[in-house]
Order: sequence, then structure tokens, then C-alpha cells
Amino acid sequence: MSELRKGILMAGGRGTRLLPLTTSCNKHLLPVRGREMIFWPLQTLLNAGIRDIVLISNPGDIPDFKSLLGDGSAFGISLTYLPQSCPAGVAEGLLLAASFLAGAPSLLILGDNLFAGPELPKFLKSSLIPANDAIVFCREVAAPGDYGILSRAATGQPQAIVEKPSASLSRLAITGLYGYPADAPAFAARLRPSPRGELEISDLNQLYLEAGRLHAIDLPEDCDWQDMGTHAGLVKAQDL
Ligand code: DAU
Repeated sequence: MSELRKGILMAGGRGTRLLPLTTSCNKHLLPVRGREMIFWPLQTLLNAGIRDIVLISNPGDIPDFKSLLGDGSAFGISLTYLPQSCPAGVAEGLLLAASFLAGAPSLLILGDNLFAGPELPKFLKSSLIPANDAIVFCREVAAPGDYGILSRAATGQPQAIVEKPSASLSRLAITGLYGYPADAPAFAARLRPSPRGELEISDLNQLYLEAGRLHAIDLPEDCDWQDMGTHAGLVKAQDL
């Protein structure tokens, strides 16, 4: 039997697209629908049945998360914390979390992604069964240039992944929730910084695609998804 899947909650970054709101406050602590933003992706991990979670954030912001969420016992989970010395990319989370994972598969979620819907727990639990492959969740968007984008071959198989493409590749965005097998830290160690200086999660997903080990699942229609990392996204999230 494979090891229990563990959670990685990414809550670092600079939050520059939300300035001036993020001048003195980590964006994941901004209010969304009556609670701090970070509760929503944390709830998604809980909905997926994950009980052992590491939160990764900027060293100076970790005390705020600790005072908000503690050791996770209030939610019936184990919550630990890891500093990311500078925002070197989402995929660095898998390198930082390697000891925490200790060979377990993972579910990584971006701290500014909101998923909601009554069928979400059932959908996530059934989607995460192949523990030896990477799993991404997709949704059509109006502005593909703002996301990691997946194109599919005529057969429906994933064909290519490009982070924030300038030319239109497809309208299928990869949302900020990723299932990874046990070897994800080793795959992440093969990445090199992108032109913007980050270890890109899209490049990690592309490695799994090239290895024939990427499942791309469409989010069901009754599941809402919103990236809350911009002013417009933050406003939309309040109304979901
Ligand atoms: O929302 C989905 C999109 O999220 C995906 O389609 C993209 O492929 C993915 O790269 C990401 O794009 P963003 O431009 O929205 O990423 P952002 O820089 O806002 O970071 C996403 C989250 O990860 C955010 O909650 C902050 C956190 N983060 C980011 C970086 C760069 C970290 O914890 N550490 C980091 O080094």
C-alpha cells in the first residue's frame, strides 16, 4: 500500500499584484468571505482527506500563521511550518518539503486559490487515487496569459504546458492544486530557474507530461475556482 498523501500549502511570495494591501500583510491573511484567505486552501486539503500538512511561507510571516492556525489540532490535523528564504518559485516547495514528505505522495495547493462546491470532497478523493502519477486540475479561462496553460492532442491526451503563454495555446488553465507522487522532490531537483528567476510549477508538470505520467482532469462544472492573487480575483472570490 502506498504511503498516506501529505499536504503542502504554499503561502509565501511577495503579493505584488495586491499592493498596497500587501505592504504590511502577507496576502494569505487578507479577509475573504469572513475569514483569512489561507483558510480556503487549507479547507480544500481537508476536503481531500489530507491530515498531515506543511505550510511554507516567508520567514518573517510564519509567526502570524502560527498564531492563527497553531499546530492544526483545532482542525484535527497536524500542521508544521517551513520557511522559504526568498520566493524562488512554487516548485521549490517540493524541495523544501522533501524531509517532511519522507517518501509520501503529496497534494500541493497554492495559498491564493479558492475551490468551492458541494461535491468537492467526493471529487477530490476519487481523483487522487493514482499515487504514482502527477495530477493537475483544469478549467477554461478567458485570459490564458495569466495562468499555466495546458494544450491537449486530438486524442485528449496532455500535449504541452506553458506558464503564462504570450500566444494563445489553449484556454485550459491549470489551477493551483496538484497531486504529486513520491518522486516529486527528485523531479523538482532537475528544474532550473525560469527567465523570471523561479522554479516554475508548470516546468515540473511538463517533466511529468514528458515522462507520460501526467493526468489532467477537468474541474466539474459545479466546482468554483478563483485565483485570489489580484484585486479583481479577490473581489470575485467574495461573491462565489
Ligand atoms: O492560480 C493558478 C496559477 O498559479 C497557475 O495557473 C500557474 O501555473 C501558477 O504558476 C500560479 O501562477 P501565479 O502567477 O498566480 O503564481 P503566484 O506567483 O501568485 O504564486 C502562487 C502562490 O504560491 C501564492 O499563493 C504565493 C505562493 N508562492 C509563490 C512563489 C513564487 C510561494 O509560496 N512561494 C513562491 O516562491
